[in-house]
Amino acid sequence: MAYFKDKVVYQIYPKSFYDSNGDGVGDIRGITLKLDYLADLGVDYLWLTPVFPSPQKDNGYDVADYCAIDPLFGRMEDLQELIAAAENKGIGIMLDMVFNHTSTEHIWFQKALAGDLKYQDYYIFREGKPDQPPTNWQSKFGGSAWEYEKKLGKWYLHLFDVTQADLNWDNPAVREELKKVVRFWKQKGVKGFRFDVVNLISKPAVFENDDQGDGRRFYTDGPNIHEYLKELVRDTQIEDMVTVGEMSSTTLDNCIRYSDPAEKELSMCFNFHHLKVDYKNGNKWELMPADRMALKQLFETWQIGMQNGNGWNALFWCNHDQPRIVSRLGSEGDYHKQSAKMLAAMIHLLRGTPYIYQGEEIGMTNPHYTDIAQYLDVESLNYYQILLQEGKTAQQALQVLAARSRDNSRTPMQWSAAEFAGFSEGGAWLSLADNYQQINVEAALADEDSIYAFYRKLIKLRKEKQIIAEGEIHFLEKMNSEVFAYQRTWGDEELVVLNNLTAEAITIPAQLKWQDYEKLLGNYAGDWSLTADKMMLKPYECLVLYQAK
Ligand code: GLC
Repeated sequence: MAYFKDKVVYQIYPKSFYDSNGDGVGDIRGITLKLDYLADLGVDYLWLTPVFPSPQKDNGYDVADYCAIDPLFGRMEDLQELIAAAENKGIGIMLDMVFNHTSTEHIWFQKALAGDLKYQDYYIFREGKPDQPPTNWQSKFGGSAWEYEKKLGKWYLHLFDVTQADLNWDNPAVREELKKVVRFWKQKGVKGFRFDVVNLISKPAVFENDDQGDGRRFYTDGPNIHEYLKELVRDTQIEDMVTVGEMSSTTLDNCIRYSDPAEKELSMCFNFHHLKVDYKNGNKWELMPADRMALKQLFETWQIGMQNGNGWNALFWCNHDQPRIVSRLGSEGDYHKQSAKMLAAMIHLLRGTPYIYQGEEIGMTNPHYTDIAQYLDVESLNYYQILLQEGKTAQQALQVLAARSRDNSRTPMQWSAAEFAGFSEGGAWLSLADNYQQINVEAALADEDSIYAFYRKLIKLRKEKQIIAEGEIHFLEKMNSEVFAYQRTWGDEELVVLNNLTAEAITIPAQLKWQDYEKLLGNYAGDWSLTADKMMLKPYECLVLYQAK
């Protein structure tokens, strides 16, 4: 079996995980101090979002030095201590490689700005007039994707913030520099890598206006992307490490190629299509209730497509860019526990490697900020202005942010009911969610029936039953938008996973043979109700049935 199929990855946003020195910002020592908690949960890898020196305009995704640690998070010794301590517990550390762009404070960009042509060719500079950007492409954080440098009389490309300048991967010297970075961290004992927006690195040979959109069709899964990934992996010899690419607006065919072992690119891919089913007209900033049918169909297309093509999915609901899933598809009220557990089972038992984002395992929710001053994320602040310019009232714009802001997932981890949720003794860099007195790790550990306990069981089950990692997937009840149901098969074994996506009790047609199956897991105590050929599912109920012939 490929080494990553039966593994579970836990994502840590260090700034918000645990603050060991009371300055209000989480740090690397804080992670080391919580290793017992993570080992007990049972996870195999910890993916840390960037901890490298950075002006923090995009919380570390604006890297100023790839081979050092930002003092905000600690020192290199702290990271080495974490790597060693984690390894003692059988946990590997994965680092986040932000290779599409650097911070404009990176020495390469600084040299480019000072007029050094060698370093200008590290980036994407274009001659031009101050009032005429080279193309009409839009930045993903709002506004033009080009910035004019008066001193040079040139524009540079930034698909994200103006302080995140895109690297020129067509320049072999850039590719060599980035390989050095991977080798550096590999040599430090890191066990895997997450590659940030890696399917955007290959830009077109000619830059032209996009009359149909924001430019993404020219650089998404760009012309040399597969060649560049193969080269990076081959020359740094990371074929046997766990690697995951973040794929922005990608396609199934490309993800098959990125993750088919025969291609020797990456272990697996994140794609985001299933997290856009509540975007009205595909626009993140327009609210709409989630389209459950679309959600089901997207999972089906990707699961079956990746299976047929021998690709491998990274399975996830939450990360540092997404609002909390219980707030989005589940319930923050009466069915908080049930819905959080159902959403966990729904995703963990699909075909792929599951990722848990810090706090997801205790059912953390969006914080419901009501004041723009509570938001810190660059994308949220930019879009707040854009929404106002488009004619929304401040209240309407705040409503959109409350549902869509990336800060929703970045609030400090809720460890206890103590001040600052036990995250820190000194403060919190970002406002906490008010519910930390009820929703916290301490409370979860004291409750045998907690969401945390359920995640723990799911992880344990993956280790016990190979069918979860290896089995084939088939979908059931495809036309019923209220239930997400599938079956896994492997040799003589069969697993049936039924998830009620709604807050109502529902009845679905059932197979009589299920009567003889074993209930492996569920989010309601007691018996399940199969009568004749019907199965009743309580609100947000999930039921995992198993049979070995
Ligand atoms: C990825 C990161 C996100 C960051 C962006 C630019 O999408 O997950 O947080 O802002 O890339 O680096």
